[in-house]
Amino acid sequence: MVRMSARAIVGMQFGDEGKGKIVDYLASASDMVVRFQGGSNAGHTVVVNGKTYKFHLVPSGVLHGKISVIATGVVLDPAVLVEEMEHLEQNGYDTSVIRVSRRAYLVLPYHREMDAWEEGLKGDVKVGTTRRGIGPAYEDRAARIALRVHDLESEEKLRRKLRLALRFRRACMGVEFGEEEILEQLKEQFERFRDLLCDSEILVNRAIDSGREVLFEGAQGTFLDVDHGTYPFVTSSSTIAGGACTGAGVPPWKVCQVLGVAKAYTTRVGEGPLPTEIEGGEAERLRERGGEFGATTGRPRRVGWLDLPLLRYAALVNGVKEIALTKVDVLAGRSTIPVATAYRVGGREVLYPPPDLEGVEPVYVEMEGWSESEVEDCLSGEIPEPIKEYVALVEKATSARVTIISLGKDREKTVVL
Ligand code: GDP
Ligand code: IMO
Ligand code: MG
Repeated sequence: MVRMSARAIVGMQFGDEGKGKIVDYLASASDMVVRFQGGSNAGHTVVVNGKTYKFHLVPSGVLHGKISVIATGVVLDPAVLVEEMEHLEQNGYDTSVIRVSRRAYLVLPYHREMDAWEEGLKGDVKVGTTRRGIGPAYEDRAARIALRVHDLESEEKLRRKLRLALRFRRACMGVEFGEEEILEQLKEQFERFRDLLCDSEILVNRAIDSGREVLFEGAQGTFLDVDHGTYPFVTSSSTIAGGACTGAGVPPWKVCQVLGVAKAYTTRVGEGPLPTEIEGGEAERLRERGGEFGATTGRPRRVGWLDLPLLRYAALVNGVKEIALTKVDVLAGRSTIPVATAYRVGGREVLYPPPDLEGVEPVYVEMEGWSESEVEDCLSGEIPEPIKEYVALVEKATSARVTIISLGKDREKTVVL
C-alpha cells in the first residue's frame, strides 16, 4: 500500500505564529506545498542565509524548489502574484514550480476599496483588516458573482462576469469602477502566470495518492477562523485544518497529520479580544525583542502572555497532535514567565474560551524563566529544565507533543525533539 502523507500546518493563535519558518523548515523533505485559503492578507517570513523573504500568496516551499500550489480556496490578487514572482526571479528562484488553481477566486482592485469602505461603515466595531480586499473577495464568492482564475482564459467570459460584479458594486457602494481599465490590467497580469494554471484538486490528490509528501500551509490562525475564531474580529476564510480539505479539495482522511504552530507568547494585529494582553514597558520590550510588527501592514502587533485556553481549543478543532513552539528565544532573560492556564468567567473557572472571549479574566501560573545561554544549550540539543517545563505545560493542556522548538528566525535555529 502507498503511504499517504499529507500534513496540515496551521496557526494555533491569531496568525504570525511563525508558520512560514516552520513550513520552510519542513519543505526540504517534502514534495509539494499547498496554500488552501486566505489571500495576500498573509505575511509569511522565511529567513535564508540572512536574507528575508516575505510571502503573501506563494507557498513558502518555493525557496526549496518544491511544487508550490495556490489552491481553489485562495482568493488570488493577480497583482500580488506577479510582484512576488518577479521578486523571486530577481533573487534567482525558479517560479515555474508555482501552480495556480483554475478555480481560485480573483481579488480585483475594487475589493481593496470596498475593504476600506466597509471598515468605515463599521465605526467602533471595525476589524482592523489588512485592507487587501480579502473579506470583499469572499463576499463576492458567497454572492456567486466572483471571478475565478479560469475566467481569465476567455476575454468574452471575463468581460461578462466583470460587468455583473461591477453592477453589484455600483448598486451597493454607488461607485463606478472602470471596466476597461480593470480588464486591461488583468489581461496583462495573466500573461505572467497563464502557464502555471492547473486543476489543483487533481494535482494534489494524485500527489498524495502516489506517496508524495504534501504540506498544506495554513494562513492566519485558529482565532481568526471565520467560524471558530473571535467572530466578528476574524478573517473571512476557514483557517483551521478542515479548511485544507475544502480549500484544496482533498478528503479528510487524506490529511493524516496536523501540526499546530504556536508562539511561546501571544500576539494579535488588528482589533478584537486578547485576554492575556500586556501594555506599557513590558509589552514594548517583548514587541521589540520579538520583532512584532505586521509582515503585511507593518502595524505593531499587540502582545500578551501564552494563553492555554486558546491552545486547548485550537488543538481540539484542528486535531493537532504535534506542535511547533516558536520564538522561545524571545522570552529569554526573564526570571519568571506568566502563562494563563484557565479563565475566570462569571465567578467560574473554565478551560476553554467562550464564543467571543468577552469578560474573561485569565488565571495565571508563573513559570520559571530561562537565560540566553540556556537558549544556546537548547540549540545544541540539551533542553534546559525551565524550557522542558514550559513545553510540558503546553503538552498537558493540548494533549499534543511539542516536536519542534524554534529559537530564532533562521532555518538553523530549530530543534527537533
Ligand atoms: P507567519 O505569518 O505565521 O508565517 O509568521 P510571520 O512571518 O508573520 O511572523 C513571525 C516572525 O517571527 C517573522 O519575522 C519570523 O522571521 C520570526 N520568527 C519565526 N520563528 C522565530 C523564532 O523562533 N524566534 C525568533 N526570534 N523569530 C522567529
Ligand atoms: P498570517 O498568515 C495576523 C487579521 C487582520 C484583521 C483580521 C481580518 O501572516 O498569519 P483581513 O484582512 O483578513 O480581512 O483581516 O485578520 N489578519 C492577520 N493577522 N496574521 C495574518 O496572516 C493575518 N491575516 C489577517 O489584522 O485583524
Ligand atoms: Mg504573518
